[in-house]
Amino acid sequence: MKRREFIRNIAAAGAGLLVSRSAPKILAQTVPGRIEILMDEPLGTISPNIYGHFTENLSGVIYDGIWVGENSRVPNVGGIRKELIDEMKKINPAIVRFPGGCFADSYDWRDGIGPVDKRPRRTNFWNGGEKPGAPDAHRYDPNHFGTNEFVQFCRAIGAQPYLAANLRSLPAQEFNRWIEYCNSPAGSTTLADMRAAAGFKDPFNVHYWGVGNESWGCGGNFTPQEYAVEYRRFTAWAPGYPGADLSFVASGPNDDKWDWTRGFLEEIVRKGRSEVRGIFGVALHYYAWNLSRGKTSDWNKGKGDAVNFDEVDWYELLRQGDVMESLIKGHWLAMGEFDPEHHIKLVVDEWGPWYKPGSELTPGDQLEQLPTLRDAVFSGMTLDTFNRHPEKVGVGCCAQLINCLNSLYLAHEDRFCVTPVGHVFDMYAAHQGGTGLRTEFSVPAIHYDRDGQAASFGGLQGSASLHGKELVLTAVNPDVKNPIEAQIAIRGGRAKSGSATVLTASDIHAHNTFEQRQAIVPTSAQMEIKGDAPVFRFPAASVVKLTLAVA
Ligand code: AHR
Repeated sequence: MKRREFIRNIAAAGAGLLVSRSAPKILAQTVPGRIEILMDEPLGTISPNIYGHFTENLSGVIYDGIWVGENSRVPNVGGIRKELIDEMKKINPAIVRFPGGCFADSYDWRDGIGPVDKRPRRTNFWNGGEKPGAPDAHRYDPNHFGTNEFVQFCRAIGAQPYLAANLRSLPAQEFNRWIEYCNSPAGSTTLADMRAAAGFKDPFNVHYWGVGNESWGCGGNFTPQEYAVEYRRFTAWAPGYPGADLSFVASGPNDDKWDWTRGFLEEIVRKGRSEVRGIFGVALHYYAWNLSRGKTSDWNKGKGDAVNFDEVDWYELLRQGDVMESLIKGHWLAMGEFDPEHHIKLVVDEWGPWYKPGSELTPGDQLEQLPTLRDAVFSGMTLDTFNRHPEKVGVGCCAQLINCLNSLYLAHEDRFCVTPVGHVFDMYAAHQGGTGLRTEFSVPAIHYDRDGQAASFGGLQGSASLHGKELVLTAVNPDVKNPIEAQIAIRGGRAKSGSATVLTASDIHAHNTFEQRQAIVPTSAQMEIKGDAPVFRFPAASVVKLTLAVA
């Protein structure tokens, strides 16, 4: 069933409304939304890895965000910010990518191993963007946080490490050696001994390896064909060890650059169709950034403000976020031309909105922005999109975890807060490992005035997954004014009981700060299920999770 236009006749706000079996006739005439969850149409298992994160050595992400150092007055576990660990444990983070981003293609992994006080200081790739007075560690990498510390961080939060290798400025041999350092068995190699000397006798068993980053740009400025040759050279005979099969992620396209996807794979299969089997994933990066309403495509001029925005900006950003679905489908189709059996997954390892500077909670932090309710809706929408394509999306990493773009957390010295995006990840963690179910949303489109031109954006949308007898439905209502009252039909099942978690605020600009950490938090309520098809009122500008026990 396609999304249909309903008459926009949505009643005013209110908490979740449940109706009894005796009421649906009246509601059937007035209910403007309908959700159908098709229990007998499974889409595949929703990999926990699509709920992954990205941590680049960029300004305040590592130093001040994750790493405070063992001697810090900030509570820490072996130098890692304790409050971050505690929060992340709640969301089952699954996988974390490090050290970049563009930084990765400037990084020598050897600088970040061995005794901490002997590690070299290097000029950070992002130095040029740092403001005068920026902390030394943001300009000149002290290398206190390297491979060992990153793996410790991953272990503390229960995530898998995903390392991005330097393809632009280090030889393939160094990639092999980094794998050897991480994965060679205890006592087997000199690098394994160095690892043991640092307190890590057993191998790290790192499975996921990015082979460069944005190789069309900061990662080497290659053509897709040139990159494919480099990719082959880097991955040919990379050392495998027991317990650590290697999953290589090729540097992929930015947004809708279909030519990159095609050009890369065309060159890969020139050596034989079976070459695709060695590739776990092709990375896709997509940032929503252009809020100029069609006036410019200039990267700097086109950006909007993170916090000071109007309703049109709200819809414009979400409309851009919604493009993710067509990107996944489009690149998947292009990949299928060379890999018809679809061995290769999409790895969306950078996604999120990107605003102009000015909203940083810690003045001077490069690329830091203050997430609002708008970013929560954007993030819920993106995660729902991933959930709807579990066979295509192998990994997703939100850019970036802390003190950066679409961050779940903001921190400075001993101050910390969870952003609305962090709350969305908490709510959506319930989908992980579930069976995605085809779910159809029939709702009115939202119409708005885009500087004198009519524009529209789809309304309520979401995803559902099944976990035994528990059904999880998440959805975002992007309408800034109107709640949507939707009947939820479960084809092939019946809801017995349920609960709802809602993230919303009366102000669409709502956000948390160090001083007001709870300005926007999810609220929970029990649902009273009286009929076969409950009705729920999705508040305006909200992210909702319904958990339904089904028979
Ligand atoms: O996330 C910030 C930067 O955006 C990354 O370093 C790069 O990969 C992308 O262009």
